[in-house]
Amino acid sequence: MATLIPVHLAIIMDGNGRWAERRGLPRIAGHREGAKAVERVVFASIKRGIKYLSLYAFSTENWKRPEAEVRGLMNILKLYFLMKIDRLKWAGVRVRVGGRWKELPQDVVKIIELAVDETKANDKLHLIVYLNYGGRREIVDAVNSILGDGKRMVDEESFRSFLYIPDVPDPDLVIRTSGEKRVSNFLLWQIAYAELYFTETLWPDFGEDDLDAAIADYNKRKRRFGGLA
Ligand code: IPE
Ligand code: IPE
Ligand code: MG
Repeated sequence: MATLIPVHLAIIMDGNGRWAERRGLPRIAGHREGAKAVERVVFASIKRGIKYLSLYAFSTENWKRPEAEVRGLMNILKLYFLMKIDRLKWAGVRVRVGGRWKELPQDVVKIIELAVDETKANDKLHLIVYLNYGGRREIVDAVNSILGDGKRMVDEESFRSFLYIPDVPDPDLVIRTSGEKRVSNFLLWQIAYAELYFTETLWPDFGEDDLDAAIADYNKRKRRFGGLA
């Protein structure tokens, strides 16, 4: 049987710090290596025909980390988009962002806006980067928008329209690297029926083979959505 490719793949990219620590390197070296894994996975996803790739890059809780690490992460983000914007553009990638990313440092916001704007006509792969994102925050933000609109009642469908990126279908498959088995506040509403895949591989080591292993595992699942197979 032909391999079923998830339409929407979401990844909790975890383990950068441990990758670096195991090599006696500063944590930031792990984040730099993690950016290379992003590059690999974006292009591998295009090759496999994935339509939406969501990447959890910075959570609302990650502000608890030392200021120097946060600053380092912001620099890597900025550099990544600056360096890759043309390559992404020509590969047909549409860059999108989810989360309260406008609250990031202004220089980061500017470059992300540029990446979003430069790629907005593309449709081959929607690359959704979650920055300053929290699933609970997203739900609370939606509730406040609903109240702001003067609505007193919503249903599931109208509630969804108040989420950060309402036109993107729910993830089919969520991958978390580095052996942790939790969702850490990622896409809480959207992953209600997602298939979850956990791997020991640390994010900087993640490559095409790991992606294929996850897709192969996904192909063994029987999705029932509460019904009968
Ligand atoms: C994931 O790697 C990247 C971010 C959360 C920004 P970590 O930095 O969490 O790496 P570990 O979990 O400490 O190894
Ligand atoms: C989840 O990783 C957040 C991102 C990948 C951006 P964390 O490393 O922050 O999660 P916890 O703290 O282990 O749950
Ligand atoms: Mg971590």
